[in-house]
Amino acid sequence: MLINVAGYFPIQSYDEMTAADFRKVVDINLTGTFLMTEAVTPLLRGRGWGRIVTMGSASVFGGVADQVHYVAAKAGIFGLSRSLARVLGRDGITVNVVTPDLTVTPAVKAKMPAEIIEPDQAPRVPARRAGRRPHRCGLLSRLARRRLHHRPDRQCRRRKAHAMSNKEAPIPDLFDGYDLHGLALPNRVAMSAMTRTRATEVDVPTALMRDYYVQRASAGLIVTECTQVSDQGHGIIRCPGIHRDDQVAGWRELTDAVHAAGGRIYSQIWHCGRVGHPDMRGGELPVGPSP
Ligand SMILES: Cc1cc2nc3c(=O)[nH]c(=O)nc-3n(C[C@H](O)[C@H](O)[C@H](O)COP(=O)(O)O)c2cc1C
Repeated sequence: MLINVAGYFPIQSYDEMTAADFRKVVDINLTGTFLMTEAVTPLLRGRGWGRIVTMGSASVFGGVADQVHYVAAKAGIFGLSRSLARVLGRDGITVNVVTPDLTVTPAVKAKMPAEIIEPDQAPRVPARRAGRRPHRCGLLSRLARRRLHHRPDRQCRRRKAHAMSNKEAPIPDLFDGYDLHGLALPNRVAMSAMTRTRATEVDVPTALMRDYYVQRASAGLIVTECTQVSDQGHGIIRCPGIHRDDQVAGWRELTDAVHAAGGRIYSQIWHCGRVGHPDMRGGELPVGPSP
């Protein structure tokens, strides 16, 4: 499954736009989508099944004065995807475009001039409602499903019969549950460990960290940022520890909140080894397994 979400959208007047500006936006939004598709095609063909979904934009229906390059690139997504659907459909790979209108996220609010952020553009949006993030996610996940609600054509039926005769196991869906050694995950989305350096000066988990993980509680599994197991293991400023009572209490509050939001969270514990600095441990040299 490939979901293309490149959306580089600089605001720039046509009169100031150079060919290089235009090319950069087309390269990221359109050529990037082509290159990603090209890269995964052999893999999907090999499986005889695949889903490619790309973010289009409803801006292509009316144009946007100060985004000539962006709207042109997004219009290209439609031609690219329709044509790819003809080629790849033969191999059991569907190609679709989701066409949201402007979705007012905090980043869009900060970047876009107020007059562009119209309160309700619903009439020109195919989904007939103004964009909010959950709508996009819902459309994307429906198009990415293994079982789309369409009448299988003869070729699909033949493929299914072929798969059954070969006794191939069905490929699981990203949204299927998973039994992780007794821990039931509601889906197969896992968040990998990511250090955010948002602990306090003395490495205690904070409310900001709690909110960050709670926002991601719908993932099948969260693995926390690396968390040092001793003062000697400390290697990054504002990286949380789990070796003092105040740190354990901070983690307890954080994990309780994630559990209350329906999530599953595991701690990534670490010792930074010799890649630490004496200034972080009162002048004491770090220790590690290698010299
Ligand atoms: C901002 C950031 C912080 C990261 N912090 C950690 C970490 O604390 N522990 C760890 O094992 N990996 C860390 N990683 C690596 C990620 O867990 C992940 O393995 C990496 O992004 C590669 O995954 P990808 O190929 O899906 O991008 C970090 C990555 C990023 C981008």
